[in-house]
Amino acid sequence: MNKIGILTSGGDSPGMNAAIRAVVRTAIGNGMQVVGVEHGYRGALDKSFRDMGMRSVSDIVQRGGTILHTARCMDFHKSECQEQAIANMREAGIEGLVVIGGDGSFRGAQALSNKGFPTVGIPGTIDNDLAYTDYTIGFHTACNTCLEAIDKIRDTSSSHERFTIVEVMGRHCGDIALYTGIAGGAELIIIPEVNLTFSEIKKTLIEASQKGKTSGLVVLAEGVCGAEELMRYLQRETNLSIRATVLGHQQRGGSPSVSDRVLATRLGYHAVSLLKKDIGNRVVGVVKEKIVDFDIDEALSMPRKFRKDLYRMAEVVSQ
Ligand code: ADP
Ligand code: F6P
Repeated sequence: MNKIGILTSGGDSPGMNAAIRAVVRTAIGNGMQVVGVEHGYRGALDKSFRDMGMRSVSDIVQRGGTILHTARCMDFHKSECQEQAIANMREAGIEGLVVIGGDGSFRGAQALSNKGFPTVGIPGTIDNDLAYTDYTIGFHTACNTCLEAIDKIRDTSSSHERFTIVEVMGRHCGDIALYTGIAGGAELIIIPEVNLTFSEIKKTLIEASQKGKTSGLVVLAEGVCGAEELMRYLQRETNLSIRATVLGHQQRGGSPSVSDRVLATRLGYHAVSLLKKDIGNRVVGVVKEKIVDFDIDEALSMPRKFRKDLYRMAEVVSQ
């Protein structure tokens, strides 16, 4: 393969730029040309292409967001649009595509591969919701961003002797809540993987108060319920002082952490090595510190991972 495309798609994540840089530099270093496809799959439909040279990725390794921009392109669900994208990319001489994104973006890559256009997926999402890889690019940084906020909220919760619900991102996957809840010493972690009723949540907080805790933190994954809704319930049903904070999109930005930059670089490097050998229909990831790749169909059909052991541990140490 002599010319490859690269795009970022879906929700952005810190470290996407580091992955773009690694792909561009590795590919050019291997004698290939690289075309940046802008605005996710939208750019493949609109022929929004830009040639990427070695210097086009200078000074981005430390930057959050994505220089190629990202988008959610609903048209890409349509078979005729996928075919149009392939025709546009072929016309531009692009022979294979690196897709940096989450599971939705990988489904787009899978559709292209099924139509005979080789793709390699790099996991870029803060949600850490891809089963085949231990970590996705951006998860670690997003957790650090949450933790910084959580630590500050703890200060004021402690001063005012109140319990604060902190809502973090994660619609179907509670990893951000789980990891930041552990690191932030939360009294309770509420995630989609564990069904807790409002009355069980109330019971846990009342018990914490009876055990002598005068303040506390509840880390809530957005997919479970809204923090405001839970706050109103607890205010109505208990005598505890309760507040709620929604962290929102700050979680998706910021300079990537060391581990996200290193992961992004390793994955970008590996993705190019596959395309260089004309291997497509793969996704790259990290398992037990080793860089791995899987067939895209296999990766997308793996059962969702949930670190129940970490959740149980958090229950013990939060007593
Ligand atoms: P993420 O990649 O972060 O999970 P989304 O689920 O929003 O984000 O998906 C990003 C984009 O990937 C979508 O806007 C669409 O362009 C493309 N996509 C998602 N699902 C599919 C699908 N089943 N077939 C084709 N393209 C898809
Ligand atoms: O990237 C995934 C995610 O961060 C989810 O956790 C969140 O619900 C969603 O994106 C929000 O994305 P947007 O507001 O850009 O649609």
